[in-house]
Amino acid sequence: MNISIIGTGYVGLVTGVGLAEKGHRVICVDTDGSKVDSINRGVPPIFEKDLEGMLERLVKEEKLEATMDTANAVKNSQVTFICVGTPSSEDGSIDTSYVERASQDIAEALMETGEYHVVCVKSTVVPGTTEGLVLPIMEEAGLEMGKDMGLGMNPEFLREGVALDDFMNPDRIVIGGADDRSKSVLREIYQDFESPIVVTDIKTAEMIKYVSNALLATKISFANEMSRICEKIGADVYGVMDGVGLDSRIERKFLNAGVGFGGSCFPKDVMALIHFCRWQGVNPRILEAVIKVNEHQPIHAVNMLEDMLGRLSGKRIAILGLAFKADTDDVRESRAIPMAQELLRRGARVVGYDPMAGKNFSGEVSNVELAGSVEEALTGSHGCLIQTDWEEFRSLGEKDFMVMSTPVVLDGRRVLNPEGFDKVRYRTIGR
Ligand SMILES: NC(=O)c1ccc[n+]([C@@H]2O[C@H](COP(=O)([O-])OP(=O)(O)OC[C@H]3O[C@@H](n4cnc5c(N)ncnc54)[C@H](O)[C@@H]3O)[C@@H](O)[C@H]2O)c1
Repeated sequence: MNISIIGTGYVGLVTGVGLAEKGHRVICVDTDGSKVDSINRGVPPIFEKDLEGMLERLVKEEKLEATMDTANAVKNSQVTFICVGTPSSEDGSIDTSYVERASQDIAEALMETGEYHVVCVKSTVVPGTTEGLVLPIMEEAGLEMGKDMGLGMNPEFLREGVALDDFMNPDRIVIGGADDRSKSVLREIYQDFESPIVVTDIKTAEMIKYVSNALLATKISFANEMSRICEKIGADVYGVMDGVGLDSRIERKFLNAGVGFGGSCFPKDVMALIHFCRWQGVNPRILEAVIKVNEHQPIHAVNMLEDMLGRLSGKRIAILGLAFKADTDDVRESRAIPMAQELLRRGARVVGYDPMAGKNFSGEVSNVELAGSVEEALTGSHGCLIQTDWEEFRSLGEKDFMVMSTPVVLDGRRVLNPEGFDKVRYRTIGR
């Protein structure tokens, strides 16, 4: 099938590459010319494992191309996926302005083609957006649902860092469709995937995405709350969760305590769901608690470090890991941001290091110095906070911390093996 993709960020590019690999012809659209140029050279504008080689080959084989011309891409395809960002507005509700703009561009292009075309929202949108925002834009332009166009909602569940593998082998594919024809066109796109396909109505598909993310975020905040009591009583929250997670009704995943969740999805999606609930007259008590616990975890980590070091004012503190998680260069809502802000507020000098995300982090918090290596970050530091679970940090041993002025380490992600630490003062969250 010929497919156009509007918005070629983390989701759009991975979707484009994945669908092209499955034999579809893909045209990626973005308003950012540098991303378009980079894709057409076969170079991914984002860091994501396995993407580079595959993109280069697909571009060479003319199975995937990128453009800034939405109209042309839409006219030369049968299905268009909307993959633009849906960031938080200032009050935490979802900002759908990019979806609106993309829908207008698609509607204009479709008015000129006269051929049946399916428009499918892949961006994460609160229930009602696809039928209450995207469809009216199409109808106002003069398109008739069912005759000129079909409508779908196909939420994306990929995780950055393993995005391509997640896209190619998802736990499930969710397809919401406005009618049978839309559903069957979207099903056809995924016919070569081996994952179970859930076919449903559009609002249910929109809701599945939010409920999945909210439940995962809830598990993390729950583990973090339990970690606080474990710290008080001398139990180890990881051991507790290992025991709890063996219960097949519960599952061990997403029960790791630490400095909290970040990234472009969990914080924003939970906030959007909170606002959506309130708007619907439902009091989101659990979701509010999930956010509260999460906001406190980086502060708790700084408190623990201060407990070990004494007043932080004038001390040099190294933050290892600036990306919101390992294997990505994405710093959106990274816990390194509130952590650095809190350290600076307490008068510390902050030096950050990340194997991939240093450049992206540089504009996030002013006055954070960037180091080019772990060694540079640690040298002369009084304390170290480990924020990201990069593989590179797992192998750090006592001798690596000996370049510090005082080897005091707060491990926010349980990456180090402290056995044999003699001179390093080590603490971790939840133990
Ligand atoms: N990043 C993730 O891990 C992830 C996972 C699942 C779902 N999602 C959801 O997918 C959506 C996209 O997320 P992302 O991380 O890929 O965002 P992103 O910010 O990385 O990419 C969005 C892209 O859309 C482009 N864009 C904006 N308006 C456009 C327009 N009118 N025409 C063409 N291009 C336009 C931007 O330039 C940008 O490159 C969001 O709703 C997000 O919540 C993200």
